Amino acid sequence: MKVTVVGAGNVGATCANVIAEREMANEVILLDIKEGVAEGKSLDIWQTAPVLGYDTRTVGVTNDYSRTAGSDIVVITSGLPRKPGMSRDDLIAINAGIVKQVTENIVQHSPEAIIIVVSNPLDVMTYTAYLAAKAPSTKVFGMAGILDTARYRAFLAEALDVSPKDIQALLMGGHGDTMVPLPRYTTVAGIPVTELIDKPTLDAIIERTKNGGGELVKLMGTSAWYAPGAAAAQMVEAIAKDQRRVFPVCTWLQGEYGLENIYLGVPVILGKNGIERIIEVELNAEEEALLHESAKAVRSVMDVLDDMKLF
Ligand code: NAI
Ligand code: 2OP
Repeated sequence: MKVTVVGAGNVGATCANVIAEREMANEVILLDIKEGVAEGKSLDIWQTAPVLGYDTRTVGVTNDYSRTAGSDIVVITSGLPRKPGMSRDDLIAINAGIVKQVTENIVQHSPEAIIIVVSNPLDVMTYTAYLAAKAPSTKVFGMAGILDTARYRAFLAEALDVSPKDIQALLMGGHGDTMVPLPRYTTVAGIPVTELIDKPTLDAIIERTKNGGGELVKLMGTSAWYAPGAAAAQMVEAIAKDQRRVFPVCTWLQGEYGLENIYLGVPVILGKNGIERIIEVELNAEEEALLHESAKAVRSVMDVLDDMKLF
């Protein structure tokens, strides 16, 4: 199993590190345009192998796509992150060109690769990669839902003083302030969360989740990387090991949930072929309205991409 991670910045390097440490692949290629950065970080990860005891080979390259040839899975993290005061959508002007060019290089050398997009604005960058890759949508999708759900689960675990492992939750929609955490599909070891937590506390947690990325940008001056890198690696693992995990994934919708021709976060089964199946859960009128509101927000960013005339 060969995995390429494009972008050796905070998220890309963390993702490569988790893939290696957990032995999710035999070989990880880390690629960046900044001379020496991917080489240095890969060497550092490789030198951790004897200490922690893993054998995934990590190799860094500067913009040399020939070294990525034959990758089974590619994670795209290249592009600018947010600074305080910026929304994810502000990044489109620069990141759309980067994601397009990176995807074209990737498919030239690894036409069969499954592509996981991480760069922001996530839903529209995933769409950009899909247009550039000209591959089936089952093989091009984005990571956001695992991260957003992880934040929701972590906040709930803290409020309830229980292990985050026991919080199961579903969150849908775009990777932005209109994301839709679903308390009706949230349990603590099978117990509906609404039986364990009062409504004002739950509402506050949902609000904090929606602004979870911004909270970290304010604290650090740039966006998060530990949880995003680990979340992308978890998707790699599900595909590499054909685990058929059920995750919220930014997926191309063709009528599911009454939505068409849009990339949006919905639950799917992830396995060796990528998106093995889109799961359609029943939504009540309020939940459906929130999901469609979120889709509207994503479509407005898709319009910005259209205006850029990249395709
Ligand atoms: P970073 O600035 O630490 O790393 C980005 C890297 O991309 C840099 O090393 C840069 O040299 C590289 N890069 C730029 N253009 C490139 C190109 N054409 N080819 C190869 N490499 C190139 O940023 P960070 O924090 O790693 O974030 C990366 C992206 O991921 C950002 O767009 C950020 O907004 C997004 N993100 C998305 C999340 C999600 O949930 N989907 C979560 C966290 C970040
Ligand atoms: C995050 O949610 C900024 O998308 C990034 O942390």
